[in-house]
Amino acid sequence: MSTLYNALWKKSKVLVRLSLAFETGLPKPSGPVAVLHPEVGFDIAGLTEALIVQPFFPTNRTWGNQGFACDVSLPTRRFSLAIVCCTRSKQQTADLIAQAAAQADIVVVDGQKTDGIDSHYRSLRKLTTVHGTITKAHGRLFWFAGMNLATLRAADQNFDGFVTKPGVFSAGAVDSASALLAGALPEHLSGDIADFGAGWGYLSSCIMSREAVTKLDLVEADFVSLDCAKKNVSDPRAAFFWADATAWNGSYDAIVMNPPFHTSRKGDPELGRAFIAGAKRCLKTKGSLYLVANRHLPYETALEQCFAKVLELPGNGRFKLFHASRPKRK
Ligand SMILES: C[S@@+](CC[C@H](N)C(=O)[O-])C[C@H]1O[C@@H](n2cnc3c(N)ncnc32)[C@H](O)[C@@H]1O
Repeated sequence: MSTLYNALWKKSKVLVRLSLAFETGLPKPSGPVAVLHPEVGFDIAGLTEALIVQPFFPTNRTWGNQGFACDVSLPTRRFSLAIVCCTRSKQQTADLIAQAAAQADIVVVDGQKTDGIDSHYRSLRKLTTVHGTITKAHGRLFWFAGMNLATLRAADQNFDGFVTKPGVFSAGAVDSASALLAGALPEHLSGDIADFGAGWGYLSSCIMSREAVTKLDLVEADFVSLDCAKKNVSDPRAAFFWADATAWNGSYDAIVMNPPFHTSRKGDPELGRAFIAGAKRCLKTKGSLYLVANRHLPYETALEQCFAKVLELPGNGRFKLFHASRPKRK
């Protein structure tokens, strides 16, 4: 995995709630175990045979490199134990809990207070008997017996002909920054293009209106988002890649991006800077980068270091827009 992600993950704390739970009453599993959406560093409590379900490419690969079997979604079979790690989306977490409850004898839910674990705890207590709970390190873990919780399943958030799902970036609406960038893209955009961090495909769907575009590669790390993008961008010029854009290789006439500035919970402009460095590497000599970013994000130096020509385009009070060209080769 890239040194960038290793450095970012080193900052995350290893939490020990699962180990504590086994010491205080959570029965040891007698069969297969699945862990849904664990971040790197999640306390796996010695469950080395567990299946890791993780749709975020860099995290998935890191678990895989540690010897774990990995998947992007929960396969349809029975589990003795399923452990759900809260995501930042309440609806996505509820959906994962419902999936786990349908397929596992025991379900554990673990999360930080900032990710709404207490709200999941309260709603589960209304629906079933919670057999145990542990609060520690600004978070909570609780467990209950598997059951039908179909009412917690989350519906797709579709609008204006687009398909989106809970948990993806800007689910249910076009992101304002992306809308600004889409409006600033030149009409004459042509050749081979890449959308780095393509999400559910909004920017890409706008690019497909340019007839001179010969190919569009959507590079996205979140499998769920990419799956939506496949439904939203149905054009034979489009190709879809579940990958880390910061480590991507290609050769493009233009790259568009509204780069992420979070790894899971933590905000970090290093990620955006790595996207800019990735664009420099993947652009042809006369290639162009079109980028939108929140006003407070310090990308100017990275752009100047990577490109011979950097132009700030008219943005607005919240977002700034850049057109950078002539990638520096050294
Ligand atoms: C700010 S969103 C922009 C999404 C989309 N372009 C749009 O306009 O709606 C950034 C996207 O980058 C994705 N992402 C985060 N880290 C990534 C990485 N290392 N490689 C590729 N995509 C990544 C996120 O999953 C998210 O979909």
